[in-house]
Amino acid sequence: MARLNGKVAVVTGGANGLGAAIAARLAEEGAAVAILDRDERGQDVAEKLTANGAKAIFRSVDVTSEDRVSSSLASVVEELGSITVLVNNAGIEGVNKPTDQLDLADWEKVMAVNSTAVFLCTKHVIPHMRAAGHGSIVNISSIYGILGGADIPPYHASKGAVRAMSKNDALTYAPENIRVNSVHPGFIFTDMVHRYASEAGLSEADARGALDPAHPLGGTGDPDDIAWGVVYLASDQAKWVTGSELVIDGGYTA
Ligand code: NAI
Repeated sequence: MARLNGKVAVVTGGANGLGAAIAARLAEEGAAVAILDRDERGQDVAEKLTANGAKAIFRSVDVTSEDRVSSSLASVVEELGSITVLVNNAGIEGVNKPTDQLDLADWEKVMAVNSTAVFLCTKHVIPHMRAAGHGSIVNISSIYGILGGADIPPYHASKGAVRAMSKNDALTYAPENIRVNSVHPGFIFTDMVHRYASEAGLSEADARGALDPAHPLGGTGDPDDIAWGVVYLASDQAKWVTGSELVIDGGYTA
């Protein structure tokens, strides 16, 4: 199927993990894809997609820099055409400490990537979507944008902010046919989760032993479980879907 033919999609954090899977599935469905990441491995991901017949480019961008976000989106439009899909996926986990032991700098670092960058990318993509006459913005939050959890306060706060921001933007831009939805993944063993487990002093086997039973469908997820949800929200099949929260978590939050 090619549900995204003619669309130009930007994926932040597309060099690795969920973002790389999202970029691959969007490309497979016919979108031209631009990967924005500070990790140069984004170039390899783009080259692989191109070798498979897709149109894909990489821009080396720290998404917390407003100047870089704005200029790189403009350069994507120049090379690929009007942007009609934005996936705000770049994220970091931050340090695992309770609020009373957390430094302000650690708080601000997480909020900058997980929340402020979503604001910046959305702010600067809207004019391009407006020019195209439509758009779909998919914000990757987390089950922790919905649930509580102990000891990673900025992660929870930043992902809750993404959920609320998505609803605000959904209402603001609905009259312009720009849809905004959030996606809430459960645990998937990417580099982020490996770092999170090792910071908590857990081996992968111990982390899986703790996490697998928490997902009623059995075990943690695959990056593609999230990517297919993003494809749906990006596609015209979701033309009547905005302000929604797509939870993809093997039943964790049920
Ligand atoms: P990851 O660590 O494997 O990949 C994150 C990507 O974001 C990396 O390529 C990294 O270079 C990029 N990135 C980070 N900061 C950046 C910045 N300032 N500028 C540009 N790029 C930046 O993590 P993963 O697991 O793929 O996470 C992707 C998203 O999914 C994140 O927003 C994360 O919070 C969210 N998520 C992940 C879950 C999981 O279990 N893996 C569960 C729920 C949400």
